[in-house]
Amino acid sequence: MNLLCLSGSLRSASSSRAVLDHIVGHLPDGVSATRFDIGSLPHYNADLGAPEIVEAFKAAVEAADGLVIVTPEYNYSVPGVLKNAIDWASRPAYASVFKDKPVLVASTSGGALGGVRAQAHLKYMLNGMLARVFPWQEVIVPHANQKVKDGVFSDAVTEAFIGQAIAAFVDSIGAGR
Ligand SMILES: Cc1cc2nc3c(=O)[nH]c(=O)nc-3n(C[C@H](O)[C@H](O)[C@H](O)COP(=O)(O)O)c2cc1C
Repeated sequence: MNLLCLSGSLRSASSSRAVLDHIVGHLPDGVSATRFDIGSLPHYNADLGAPEIVEAFKAAVEAADGLVIVTPEYNYSVPGVLKNAIDWASRPAYASVFKDKPVLVASTSGGALGGVRAQAHLKYMLNGMLARVFPWQEVIVPHANQKVKDGVFSDAVTEAFIGQAIAAFVDSIGAGR
């Protein structure tokens, strides 16, 4: 099983990226991860047609058994760079590479709410693309900056919770095969 893992933040010291690194480093046996830098995608513009990098992104989504997206919250919603990636992959509408694709969403924030508002928006978008959003308790990482040191995420309680979510997500994909 292969999971495509996306970070909604591009910065090198990102806590979302650190949480994603942790997830990738602790996947269940037999599960591998592919990463894709969504910052490499151009701004969505239908006039561009099908740029090679966009086709590569869509192919990565299509090839994956599921996606794990860890995103921060920007102004109560999803960062523009993540929305941009989603917009590219969302075409053709209702028949895109996201259709029936299992997706686990997790969010981070420097604040107390852990990006839960962005997470709700992201799930709403994914539902609109007919993706299979994994129905579980919200996986949030509040005060994320305090849980990342030198780029490494560490927080025993959150790690255990994320581990349970990933295990349940992987099981659900396996059961759906
Ligand atoms: C443009 C911008 C908007 C933000 N808006 C929110 C917000 O709405 N809610 C929130 O909890 N944090 C907000 N933050 C703070 C982020 O949670 C914090 O910067 C976090 O570390 C960003 O994620 P990252 O570490 O993965 O880059 C915002 C940060 C930026 C740069």
